[in-house]
Amino acid sequence: MTDAARHTRTASYLAEPGEVQRVLLLYSGGLDTSVMLKWIQDEYEAEVVALTINLGQPGEDYDVVKGKAMQLGAVEAEVVDARDEFARDFIAPAIKANAIYGLAYPLFTALGRPLIAKLAVDYARKHGCDTIAHGCTGKGNDQVRIEATVATLAPELKVIAPVRGWQMGREEEIAYARQHGIPIKGGAEQTPYSIDDNLWGRSSEGKWIEHLDHAPEDDVFQLVTRPELAPDEPQTVQISFERGIPVALDGIPMGLVALLEHVAEIGCRHGVGIVDHIEDRIVGLKVRDIYEVPAAAILLPAHAELERLTGTIHQNQFKSGLDHQWAYLVYAGLWWEPLRENLDAYMDSVNERVTGTIGMKLYKGAARVVTRSSPNAVYDAALATFETSGGLFSQQASPGFIELWSLQSRMAHRLRASQEG
Ligand code: ARG
Repeated sequence: MTDAARHTRTASYLAEPGEVQRVLLLYSGGLDTSVMLKWIQDEYEAEVVALTINLGQPGEDYDVVKGKAMQLGAVEAEVVDARDEFARDFIAPAIKANAIYGLAYPLFTALGRPLIAKLAVDYARKHGCDTIAHGCTGKGNDQVRIEATVATLAPELKVIAPVRGWQMGREEEIAYARQHGIPIKGGAEQTPYSIDDNLWGRSSEGKWIEHLDHAPEDDVFQLVTRPELAPDEPQTVQISFERGIPVALDGIPMGLVALLEHVAEIGCRHGVGIVDHIEDRIVGLKVRDIYEVPAAAILLPAHAELERLTGTIHQNQFKSGLDHQWAYLVYAGLWWEPLRENLDAYMDSVNERVTGTIGMKLYKGAARVVTRSSPNAVYDAALATFETSGGLFSQQASPGFIELWSLQSRMAHRLRASQEG
């Protein structure tokens, strides 16, 4: 393929080679983005500023990542701790929206990408870059999320996505890395899977995961204890919410980042949050992911329980449709779509009353609601046990209700019966 062909633009925001002078590279420190760091300097004769974003990836050493970027020729390398912003502006709204895609995926990657891309825009502007480079392939949702964000927030910036264009396989990339003195992690630290993780969860893709009939191999679970190895003693945790946001764990108040980390740790110990998921990607493919989502697997059901308790039947019926729409927009990379803000206004309004405490019992992979308490519960134990109704409820009134409630159904049934008969 000639250079000209490789760089043929298919979208207005993609950079032509001549336009690329100074690139903001979203740098993780992994193989793809390390090869990119060199390749961009060679291919475009451009300067590279490396940006690494801490969204709470467990076990990452950001000094090492930064050092590697400088060693590979970055003119500058920045590490940004965005955990608070991620928790407050992305995970908290997701909790209020009970955000789950495809019945199982709590959207941690989908929530992280718009923030990563927004920070890329901020730092590209700060460093006078003309172009943002990311390491997404052409097969996933992440390219959609990142490029949609850049094109929305910074129409003046261009994008390059070398991994999508260069068509190097993993072996070629490793060869390129060797040739150019790029250190490659080896031995035990080298994971065969493609990993993405942050405070809200972790995904593994690739290798046997692509074979749908292949049951999960043990080595994929780097975070969550396998349920069969989890403690024999169950543990019940009390999660307190204020206005839809978790604020305390077992009565101890904490900030959201600390709470997410603590809950994840407890969930990991009890084998909670393993998801084996086939997903409909926005770019058409179906993909299988192994997710480890210990915090989400405890906090989302707890929140949903409290929300149902404090809402009426009408609110509860209505909200699940909006929750679904919210999750789909976010999954599909349209974080900046105004509809999401409109939906958030509704979510906030409902969550005004979502205050109280839920007890979650954790045992060998399961997380189950066992207790609930809320000053706003639309619940009266006296009504439920049919004792005194305080004038709100009369059992004698029920038959009249049933006659009217079923009226249209009965008429339609009788009509059909007579027509068929
Ligand atoms: N399938 C999930 C999603 O589309 C997870 C993607 C993980 N990303 C990655 N680059 N490994 O949100």
